[in-house]
Amino acid sequence: MAINGGERTIPDGIIKNWPPIDDVDRKYVLASLEGSKHTFGPNCSALEKEFAAGNGNKYAITTNSGTAALHMSVVACGCGTGDEIIVPAYSWSSSATCILHHNCIPVFVDIDYDTMNIDTKKIEAAITKKTKAIIVVHLHGLAVNMDEVNYIAKKYNLKVIEDACQAVGSEFKG
Ligand SMILES: Cc1ncc(COP(=O)(O)O)c(C=O)c1O
Repeated sequence: MAINGGERTIPDGIIKNWPPIDDVDRKYVLASLEGSKHTFGPNCSALEKEFAAGNGNKYAITTNSGTAALHMSVVACGCGTGDEIIVPAYSWSSSATCILHHNCIPVFVDIDYDTMNIDTKKIEAAITKKTKAIIVVHLHGLAVNMDEVNYIAKKYNLKVIEDACQAVGSEFKG
């Protein structure tokens, strides 16, 4: 063992920083800082266009963080005081705190232990008259079965917010 003077199991330098920052990143960040339009400048617009196209969407809006995007989504779905929003019991904290910040009530649904994502079979039992939306989180790059979620959402007239912070570039059904 290393503690007794033996070789280290994890050698120095094997753990790399993530995300990797390269010269392209440096170039664009510096250009942005030096340009007069730091926020919502041409780089932002270019990213939005490229991101939307990459996802097969018409629009994309850049935000300063995933948390901010979640806040905006809750408001955009018309959720307000006393509304219930279904959310997986296991996720990143802001998947649930974005609900509290808008005086809504998070209703936790347990996860499926094979995928670690929301157990879609348990969503329906959590729906009440106050339910307004479902926040689905695609954790660890693994997509939730959106056919099942969208079926339930349509049946009960609920909005669906997908938190894909950990799943940019992931695919469902190919
Ligand atoms: C699933 C998930 N949702 C939301 C967030 C929040 O993103 P940010 O840290 O950019 O606010 C994260 C961050 O890692 C996340 O993993």
